[in-house]
Amino acid sequence: MDLAVAVVAPQALAEDKTPAIIVAARGKTLSDSAAALDAASSGALAAALASAGFDGKPGQTLALYALPGIKAGLVLVVGAGDAAEISLQAWHKLVLAAVKALPGRMGKALSTLAELPVAGRDVNERISDQARFVLEAGYRFDEYKSKKPAAGDLLSKLTLAIADKAGLKAAKDALVWGQCIGTGQSFARDLGNQPGNVAYPGYLAEMARAIGEDGDVKVEVMGEEELRKLGMHCLLSVSAGSQHDAQLVTLNYQGGKAKDAPVVLVGKGITFDTGGISLKPGAGMDEMKFDMCGAASVLGVMAAIKLARLKLNVIGVIACAENMPSGTATRPGDIVKTMSGQTVEILNTDAEGRLVLCDALTYVERFKPAVVVDIATLTGACVVALGKVASGLFSPQDELAEELLAAGQRVDDRAWRLPVWDDYQELLDSPFADIANIGGPTAGSITAACYLARFTKAYSWAHLDIAGTAWLSGAQKGATGRPVPLLLEFLRARAAG
Ligand code: BES
Ligand code: MN
Ligand code: ZN
Repeated sequence: MDLAVAVVAPQALAEDKTPAIIVAARGKTLSDSAAALDAASSGALAAALASAGFDGKPGQTLALYALPGIKAGLVLVVGAGDAAEISLQAWHKLVLAAVKALPGRMGKALSTLAELPVAGRDVNERISDQARFVLEAGYRFDEYKSKKPAAGDLLSKLTLAIADKAGLKAAKDALVWGQCIGTGQSFARDLGNQPGNVAYPGYLAEMARAIGEDGDVKVEVMGEEELRKLGMHCLLSVSAGSQHDAQLVTLNYQGGKAKDAPVVLVGKGITFDTGGISLKPGAGMDEMKFDMCGAASVLGVMAAIKLARLKLNVIGVIACAENMPSGTATRPGDIVKTMSGQTVEILNTDAEGRLVLCDALTYVERFKPAVVVDIATLTGACVVALGKVASGLFSPQDELAEELLAAGQRVDDRAWRLPVWDDYQELLDSPFADIANIGGPTAGSITAACYLARFTKAYSWAHLDIAGTAWLSGAQKGATGRPVPLLLEFLRARAAG
């Protein structure tokens, strides 16, 4: 969809030729734009709201057609609640609701929602938020559907109105940034939604190569032969049962000064997680195609920062493998050597995410990173603890943890911190090797993070467990593209210094 910003004062709305206009009602109080349209229609707008019993709760919408005195054929009123400041969560919800309620046949629409007071968001942020929420709301994955909606049934353009002419340049920049986030998020969703019989490790490598095509991002792909030479036997133990080779892919974006230490993002890319010989139960196993969403978020971020030309050095690494049972698969009890030299007793082949990540985390030491953030659909226990609202955040460094939490807050892609205290480390003791790959029935997300902590001592590090947040189940099944917004906001703030 085409997005634009334009200066449109509330007084000019009644004469505006855009076929649909979005305005807000804050509880029973009309927004400035809604009030201007109400005046132009001699009170018809307010009367229609009253007779419909519209009370302006966040996300409630009402479509009013052919109001007298107004050129637009449709005025869509969206509820914004009656709080003095709209919370970011309510804001997110109401923009999504407004866009979803717009009939596509209107073709073009104008949103006045940037005039609303949103907690902690200035007008430019309200523009970039809208841009990315609109892309989020309009996202579809119908590649495999025989019947697709006709172009005429889809909205073609949305213009975001601001009142102040002097703010136009900044608002346009904000729009572009919002579009970059939305594009990165959609990219990650597309990859996540691909079925396991398409998105093999080699497919993710191809998608990475596509990001590198025009030269702004350098891409390097390593197959199993090279991984063996590097001593990544732990990563290779995960793909041992699969017909498809593991791949370690590095994407290098140099937007900063050559001497600046890079931010390194490491993504778990299990293209399908059957559990291996420790086979998962059948119910819902299809959702394990989403087990590469960490890698997908890294690719989404790299695609977006390239578009945004962010002034920062960022390296993305994705560790891709398929976890399958077969005669060549790793057995419970097998002992493998990691690239770090530490040995691992694989007590459960379903705890494979940490097995691919630990070698990738050792590998990235060579980049002398400023910080490393890994992103992984790592544990079911994280879904138990935090549900689908917050990603789990783990870091031994308070400052880095705060930075990531704050970034997530600002863009409504929140994380919540859990400890990685050494007190939990003994749960990973093995009688036969340096470490076991599972820690027993308690504190499953923490022991997974503690496992990773043994491989991240050379740099400052954080781990995001996105098992709950990377996709939705049930009627809304599909990848969410989280935590692309959190990561991009984290990087933007770092680039701004
Ligand atoms: N990919 C799963 C984690 C997962 C499970 C994410 C359910 C989202 C929903 C991971 O590889 C896994 O299987 N983890 C095990 C670890 C256990 C064997 C210690 C788990 O969480 O059950
Ligand atoms: Mn698993
Ligand atoms: Zn997994």
